Amino acid sequence: MNKPCDRCGGVGYTLGRRGELAQAEPCACQEACERCGGSRYVFRMEGSYEVAAPCTCVSLFARVRLFNDAHIPAGYADKSVSSFVHKDPKKVPSEKSLAAAKARFMKYQQSLDARDGRGIVLVGPPGVGKTHLLCALMNYLTLQKGVACRFVDFFELTGRIRATFDGKATGETEASLIEPLVQVPVLAIDDLGKGRGSSWELTIIDQLITRRYNAGRLLLASTNYAPEALPGGAAPLPSKRGALKETLEERIGDRLYSRLVEMADIVTLDGEDRRRSRPAAR
Ligand SMILES: Nc1ncnc2c1ncn2[C@@H]1O[C@H](COP(=O)(O)OP(=O)(O)OP(=O)(O)O)[C@@H](O)[C@H]1O
Ligand SMILES: [Mg+2]
Ligand SMILES: [Zn+2]
Ligand SMILES: [Zn+2]
Repeated sequence: MNKPCDRCGGVGYTLGRRGELAQAEPCACQEACERCGGSRYVFRMEGSYEVAAPCTCVSLFARVRLFNDAHIPAGYADKSVSSFVHKDPKKVPSEKSLAAAKARFMKYQQSLDARDGRGIVLVGPPGVGKTHLLCALMNYLTLQKGVACRFVDFFELTGRIRATFDGKATGETEASLIEPLVQVPVLAIDDLGKGRGSSWELTIIDQLITRRYNAGRLLLASTNYAPEALPGGAAPLPSKRGALKETLEERIGDRLYSRLVEMADIVTLDGEDRRRSRPAAR
């Protein structure tokens, strides 16, 4: 075995940013792949014939493309479920929800069948790692499992929908904006309910989610707004930081909310705001 490449540590790609989005690039070590010498084909014998088959480096390029198409925010390029840390919940009970969420995501990313799985809605106050976990999952699903994913910020999405209505020359139409989000096998909507979310913007998001629901496609989401009643009779979040008096139902409407809980399990996160406190070492 050769020593793993210094630049990529042997994974075959490096992570960086392009503008506001995370960007993966095949590592230079893949240019002259040692299996195919850069031809992207390998030859093997089938009976007495020699046949050409795509080299495994081809799937690496495809996975890098999936990562780039997922539109993960640049600051979250290298988040992983393992880099989500928490204190021992036996010693620090307030970290219990973080430990449970991490265990759940660990299992979820390994066993997920994108065609036949339930989604997750992460509910919690600012800075507890909701976007971290969503991006970690997209990172894993694209680069490790070759599943097409897409990340969108709710506020940005409603803003872009509004711009198509205002007739601003963005080159986008409602269909060009929504269609890829309907079709992608795994969609993550971050910060659900944030911003103005006028009723017609919500109607469009309702259609998006209903179409995914009808097609049985996976939906992940995060939100600061706690549901009025958590499904399963669980108590609402113990700490509601900030002035979020509204419930998730009020923010996104009962119709959309009821779709959401049919498609996804609610997972609550509670704890300190990691943007304020430096992540404590365990
Ligand atoms: N448990 C954790 N372990 C490691 N890093 C964490 C953890 N929780 C949060 N962070 C880091 O803290 C920062 C803020 O977390 P993140 O953006 O995921 O919060 P959030 O829950 O999405 O907040 P908001 O509701 O404001 O969007 C990120 O850099 C994230 O990687
Ligand atoms: Mg967030
Ligand atoms: Zn390399
Ligand atoms: Zn190759």
